Amino acid sequence: GIGLNRRDALRVGSGFVGAAGALALGARTVRAEPWTWSPSGSVLGSGKGADPMTVWDSEADPVIADVMDHADVPQVNRLLATWIKNDQPIPAGLPKNLRDFMEYARQLPSWTDQGKLANSFQFTQRRGTYLGVLYAFASGMMANVIPHEALAVYYSRGGSHLKERIAKTAKFGYDIGTVNAYGPGGEMVVTCVKTRIIHAAVRHLLPTAPVWPKGHIPISQDDMMVTWHSLGTTIMRVLTEWKIPMPAAESEGYLHSWQLAGHLLGIRDEYIPVSWDQANIQAAQVLDPIIAPTPEGKALSNDLLNLGADLDLTLLSRPILGAFTRFILGDKIADWLAIPREPVWGPLLQFSWGPFLAVREGILGVVPPSKDAYWMFDEFLRQFVLWYISELRMPLSIEIPQTNR
Ligand code: HEM
Repeated sequence: GIGLNRRDALRVGSGFVGAAGALALGARTVRAEPWTWSPSGSVLGSGKGADPMTVWDSEADPVIADVMDHADVPQVNRLLATWIKNDQPIPAGLPKNLRDFMEYARQLPSWTDQGKLANSFQFTQRRGTYLGVLYAFASGMMANVIPHEALAVYYSRGGSHLKERIAKTAKFGYDIGTVNAYGPGGEMVVTCVKTRIIHAAVRHLLPTAPVWPKGHIPISQDDMMVTWHSLGTTIMRVLTEWKIPMPAAESEGYLHSWQLAGHLLGIRDEYIPVSWDQANIQAAQVLDPIIAPTPEGKALSNDLLNLGADLDLTLLSRPILGAFTRFILGDKIADWLAIPREPVWGPLLQFSWGPFLAVREGILGVVPPSKDAYWMFDEFLRQFVLWYISELRMPLSIEIPQTNR
């Protein structure tokens, strides 16, 4: 809770995370190089070009702060829990300012393209087997070397309820890939608007934590773009590196599903890249230079590696998930996160994952991996899908937090 003393707040699992220096390091408010990404590369195509480090969410933040200070938050959460489908009316009984905000925030932008969304679904159908594992071990692990995000997650309520938080984030990754994600019957609009509300709540709550650096408001537009790139952009980079065949329409469709997610999360259109090329240019400025280890991120990644532990999924063991993380994100990040090298799976991934994918994708002229390697990789992906399904089985409601860690 907010009343925690510093020592309790820094206690994690069986140990402690680092020293006060970690927070100072994480709360970076100045850019090494001036902001240069041009809004002409955005879905809007224009903009004032303000550095997103200096912009938060001026539409959501005052409303949510008012609700948290003056409304019955548990009751608001009970009502929010009944709002599930995109086409469902906003539940009656919410404070008027919150309701008005939600009506506004649920609108799809004029640049929504239904054709692209159909292609996005086709992409998910064809590539879904890789997506879950990549959201968790490319994006989820990368989040732990994004200092602002690792700190915000660690010191917010979700940091001490990590299993629940992983499940809710997994639901986000699932919802974005469903057939009618942004249409009637889908849930992505609701999931995004609720998440936008939660982020505004975190901006209101986290600065009251004694451990939080004075004057630092979390989750800026820059932070949101960093995380956006750790998701869509990173996954597209990995799939490209893996030489997964990717028709342009499907790649653009997948981008579009993330552009809409960004918009509905409250990212301003002038910061949302219009193409993967523009996304890569922006990521090179906002994401690549800022990744760094923090004790908090290390603690979170340690928990993430236990994800398969309470299920009987033998290939989702810590060493194998660690090897997979190291294989995807590389030695530097794996070493930062203190992920041990794995003597069997490490080399196996290095030498046989490429051929496995090639055979799986029907690419000719590749020397296939051994039968055993093929079976193990296939089973690994299958077990990951099982894990995913089991996570989504628990009732999940994204709620306004009332306390920090
Ligand atoms: C909550 C997704 C960006 C920090 C959530 C939740 C989702 C989500 C689905 C709800 C989960 C829950 O209630 O436990 C996303 C996506 C992002 C994004 C898709 C960008 C594309 C960020 C950034 C930060 C951040 C940039 C921090 C720098 C948090 C925190 C919570 C949260 C602290 C609340 C955890 C809690 O108190 O339980 N986010 N997020 N998020 N997010 Fe984000």
